[in-house]
Amino acid sequence: MTTSMSMSMHMPTLKNSSKHSFILFLLSLSFIYLFYNLSFLHHSTIPPPSPSRNAPSPTTLDHIVFGIASSSSLWPSRQHYINLWFRPPMRGFVWLDNPLTNSTTNSSSSSLVLKLSSNTSSFPYTHKHGSRAALRLSRIVSETLHLNLPNVRWFVMCDDDTVFLPSNLLTLLSSFDHTQPYYIGSLSESHLQNIYFSYSMAYGGAGFAISYPLALSLSRFQDQCLHRYPSLYGSDDRIQACMAELGVPLTRHPGFHQYDVYGDLLGLLAAHPVAPLISLHHLDVVKPIFPSSPSRVAALQRLFAGPVSLDSAGTMQQSICYDKLNQWTVSVSWGFVIQIVRGVMSPREMEMPARTFLNWYPRADYTAYAFNTRPVARNPCQRPVFYYLLSASYDVRLRTTVTVYERHHDSQPTCRWKIEDPSQHVNTVIVYKKPDPDMWNRAPRRNCCRVKPGGGERTMVVDVGVCRDDEISEI
Ligand SMILES: *[C@@H]1O[C@H](CO)[C@@H](O)[C@H](O)[C@H]1NC(C)=O
Ligand SMILES: *[C@@H]1O[C@H](CO)[C@@H](O)[C@H](O)[C@H]1NC(C)=O
Ligand SMILES: *[C@@H]1O[C@H](CO)[C@@H](O)[C@H](O)[C@H]1NC(C)=O
Ligand SMILES: *[C@@H]1O[C@H](CO)[C@@H](O)[C@H](O)[C@H]1NC(C)=O
Repeated sequence: MTTSMSMSMHMPTLKNSSKHSFILFLLSLSFIYLFYNLSFLHHSTIPPPSPSRNAPSPTTLDHIVFGIASSSSLWPSRQHYINLWFRPPMRGFVWLDNPLTNSTTNSSSSSLVLKLSSNTSSFPYTHKHGSRAALRLSRIVSETLHLNLPNVRWFVMCDDDTVFLPSNLLTLLSSFDHTQPYYIGSLSESHLQNIYFSYSMAYGGAGFAISYPLALSLSRFQDQCLHRYPSLYGSDDRIQACMAELGVPLTRHPGFHQYDVYGDLLGLLAAHPVAPLISLHHLDVVKPIFPSSPSRVAALQRLFAGPVSLDSAGTMQQSICYDKLNQWTVSVSWGFVIQIVRGVMSPREMEMPARTFLNWYPRADYTAYAFNTRPVARNPCQRPVFYYLLSASYDVRLRTTVTVYERHHDSQPTCRWKIEDPSQHVNTVIVYKKPDPDMWNRAPRRNCCRVKPGGGERTMVVDVGVCRDDEISEI
């Protein structure tokens, strides 16, 4: 994951150019109208002119084509990650090295198509520790383009263990002009990975988006380009090398997550940057996101069935508030987890990920992340009490989502502070939040939360929503 500090969000506003194109659009409309009118009067057999090519129409999910990197040995077990999020009208192609010998494949969706990559044995590959599969996977972009699908605005590349939040991905891609060359993705969490590979590269597991015109330019010379970089390791660094030849830089977005970490994603997900959650990766490597889930996929299903379907834009978004009466700090990671900590922790501490996760390079420490982190509290009094999502629903009468979080029973070491122990007083947290699909069409700002009185026996009630103009997180 990447923090908003080191990453700038490049969300080009289309104001100026769209003003012009809007005027052009109006002009062409009136022209079409006149033409129609006259043609109706005089030659009613003339076919209607085709609509203006500049007419802006909103980008929708059917404009996106996914190129999923897989293999015949991994697909049977990895398909469950793709089936979590892939649905028509998205289009998607799973690229394999060999035909599946097993009939275990069970794609839930008719529009996901299995493809065989073409033979790359004529391409040079000299990296000592890597795999030649990198060549095949790198060519997914041009192989998918060569399928000549109609109406494509974006090609999105990912691995077979990448999980997307499609609605958030769509919000992001819609904010860019798809007729321009864009290469959008994110870096690794590991500073060392970024040094070994590149700080200019979109990591493939996190997924990355290439606009149609850029994919077209790339496909025209990708095979020659691949011949020039035989010593690179992977498929994504090969893409970046060709992007550098084209002079197209990476547009970084902090919502794509390569997750080159081990252990528990908790610290990262509980302090997600103020940006839409776009993707998650390496979920086979880390612990299930909900500790009580029977499997990793089941944990993700809990997230997708509830929060993602109710309010995708708000999923994992953090808000920070205080229980004045008890002198507790409350941090909500909406749809995932609530933390209650004794005492007042400032927002600048709470929005910094706690190191519940381990570095990709086992001997590297906290200096080896490409963003700020903080240690897990040593003092037992400062250990947060965690409440994980139990259920999520929509209250039609109140027009709000209701998410319920249940205390995670881990051992609470003794604390001698006079401040009350949250784990002794709160078993359940109920959060009310109105769906806010427009959240990312405004300037980024953390939501505000407010602890409500009268939660009842062992229950805390929290309201989450857009902050009032001058509302700040303070006790
Ligand atoms: C053509 O334009 C005139 C005036 O704007 C309008 O009254 C008429 O209905 C139009 N005819 C057609 C066929 O659209
Ligand atoms: C077929 O599928 C089973 C169960 O997923 C797996 O254990 C086995 O290795 C597969 N066989 C081949 C040849 O891929
Ligand atoms: C196929 O899909 C169904 C429904 O999603 C699921 O219950 C079943 O376990 C899947 N089977 C395999 C072999 O993946
Ligand atoms: C790929 O091509 C090479 C020679 O160009 C050939 O020897 C090899 O058998 C081919 N592999 C496959 C899987 O077709």
